[in-house]
Amino acid sequence: MSSVAVRAEGLVKTFGSTRALDGVDLEIPTGTVLGLLGPNGAGKTTAVRILTTLLRPDAGRAFVAGHDVVADPQAVRRSIGLSGQYAAVDENLTGTENLYMVGRLYGLNRADAQARAKELIGRFRLTDAADRPSRTYSGGMRRRLDLAGALVAEPLVVVLDEPTTGLDPRGRMDTWEVIGELVSDGATVLLTTQYLEEADQLADEILVVDRGKVIAQGSADQLKAGVGGERLDIVVADAAHLAAARAALTAVGVGEPVVDEHQRRVSVKVEAGPKALIEALRALDRDSVGVLDVGLHRPTLDDVFLALTGHTAEEAEPAEKKRGKG
Ligand SMILES: Nc1ncnc2c1ncn2[C@@H]1O[C@H](COP(=O)(O)OP(=O)(O)OP(=O)(O)O)[C@@H](O)[C@H]1O
Ligand SMILES: [Mg+2]
Repeated sequence: MSSVAVRAEGLVKTFGSTRALDGVDLEIPTGTVLGLLGPNGAGKTTAVRILTTLLRPDAGRAFVAGHDVVADPQAVRRSIGLSGQYAAVDENLTGTENLYMVGRLYGLNRADAQARAKELIGRFRLTDAADRPSRTYSGGMRRRLDLAGALVAEPLVVVLDEPTTGLDPRGRMDTWEVIGELVSDGATVLLTTQYLEEADQLADEILVVDRGKVIAQGSADQLKAGVGGERLDIVVADAAHLAAARAALTAVGVGEPVVDEHQRRVSVKVEAGPKALIEALRALDRDSVGVLDVGLHRPTLDDVFLALTGHTAEEAEPAEKKRGKG
């Protein structure tokens, strides 16, 4: 296979008056993870559906493992494992049976399908629940089972559409771990997410999408730097201590701190956030400054959006979707 596992050029897809994709280019080098980051309605699932041959583009071209998604969908499907936005598991089958069935659908013989199911059940930490109907699984377990299903056929490219949306923090951490393992095994991954933090954890390269267009591209660090990096906030108990807090934050921050006298809060941009936080607290403690609250603020998708587009991710939804919500 060439060194580029997935390539798309000028993808366009329109639904009625909605331009779900408005000329998207992307490229995923083999063995790397591309994160498609964007809010509701940005066009992430539409891109996923085109790349996995479930939908034809109106214009543009895309290749997966060298195969054209329109001209040679069969070959593309053989190269891809998909875990969709909503976990697709058969509720009445057990975890093992679900994976066995997928293996048989992909043409594995009984013994191989059985062996593969067992291996993946272990790898995704579902052994204890392997023989229970999957309707008894928690959301996180279902998600892991669905991810396992995407790997049954040992695909070259794994596509994960919002793999952690709807999971609790524990489920999210578990899923990140599994995806991390996948990646260290050398898989090429296309991942969509609404969380900058998630793209940060998992992706080598991030494309920020908004209304069907790629509006920014880079590593998480580059995107964060674009919005000013991390910020350290300290709220002091007594307004008389604002000057001391300001001095402490000047010493650990980048540039001038901002003082909000009314909230008794001092904020400063920082580079090594946790280290700056510890140093600032030590200094304040030495000066006997009472601290009411302290926080390290990492840029969120909203911050990135605001910096890039002048509107927040929430406002980025197409007008017609919003109207529907009243
Ligand atoms: N089958 C369809 N028919 C009509 N409109 C559609 C269809 N599929 C998607 N759209 C519209 O296209 C736009 C992009 O949708 P898409 O599902 O790709 O967004 P998304 O980024 O995956 O959003 P989410 O984070 O909510 O999953 C939205 O405005 C959506 O309403
Ligand atoms: Mg989607």
